[in-house]
Amino acid sequence: MIFDIATLFPELCDAWLSGSIIGRARRAGYVTIDCHDIRGFSEDKHRRVDDSPYGGGMGMVLGPTAIYNCFRYIERLRGECPHVIYLSPKGRVFSQREAHRLAEMKRPILLLCGHYEGVDQRVIDEIVDEELSIGDYVLTGGELGALVVADAAARLCEGVLPDESCFTEESHEQGLLEYPHYTRPPVWHGREVPEVLLSGHHANIERWRREQALELTLRRRPEMLEGAQLSKKDREFLEKCADVPG
Ligand SMILES: C[S@@+](CC[C@H](N)C(=O)[O-])C[C@H]1O[C@@H](n2cnc3c(N)ncnc32)[C@H](O)[C@@H]1O
Repeated sequence: MIFDIATLFPELCDAWLSGSIIGRARRAGYVTIDCHDIRGFSEDKHRRVDDSPYGGGMGMVLGPTAIYNCFRYIERLRGECPHVIYLSPKGRVFSQREAHRLAEMKRPILLLCGHYEGVDQRVIDEIVDEELSIGDYVLTGGELGALVVADAAARLCEGVLPDESCFTEESHEQGLLEYPHYTRPPVWHGREVPEVLLSGHHANIERWRREQALELTLRRRPEMLEGAQLSKKDREFLEKCADVPG
C-alpha cells in the first residue's frame, strides 16, 4: 500500500508516522507513506500557496497551482495516476469499512490536506476522486485526517500487525464493539479479573467475550447491531439484556 500525503506541514505528519507500529512497518517496507510539502511546489518567488477568497470573506484559500504541481510530481514518482482523497469536513465520514477498502486498493493513494478556509474548488474538481471526513467537526487542517486514514488502513495491510486475528475481533469489524481486556495483576485496587478469564476453559472464555461484546454494543451503539451477524444464541442473550436496564 502506498500513501502520499500532500501537506503544508510534512514534518508534523512525518514525526507521528515515524513512531510505534506504523514507523516500524514503514521501515520494514510493509507500507509506504511519504509526506510532501505543498509549499515546495509553489511557483511564487516567496513560496506563497494561499490567497484571499474571491467574493470576499474571512480567511485564506489554498490556491490550485502548488497542489496541482505536487499531484503531477507524485504521479511521475509513482509511475501512475494516484487515487486522490481530499480530507474535508464535507466528505463522506470515514469508517472501518472505508479503511478496508483503501487497504485493498492497488493504486497509490494521495491524501490531500487542506488548510485555512480550504482549497480552491477548481483543483478539487480537476484531481480529487473522493472527499473523506473524519467526523462532524472542523479541524484547522487536513493533517490529522490524513494520519487517521493512513493509520487505520495501514494497520490492515499484511505484515503490519503480527497476524489477521489481531484485528478481526476488534470493534467495528463484525458490527460489534469489542469485549473488555484484562492483564496482570489478578486483583488491582480491589478489582478482580473476571473469573472465567482465569479458568483456562476456552469455550467459556469465547462465549463470555461474545456476550460482553453484544451487551456493550447494545448499551452504547444499538444501531450497530442491525449490521451484525447474530446467531440464535446471540439474539436470545440480547433479549435478556434488553430486559435489564444498563
Ligand atoms: C478550517 S478547515 C476548512 C473548513 C471549511 N471552510 C468548511 O467549512 O467546510 C481547513 C482544512 O481542514 C481539513 N479538515 C477540517 N475538518 C475536517 C474533518 N472533519 N475531516 C477531514 N478534514 C478536515 C480540511 O482539509 C480543510 O480544508
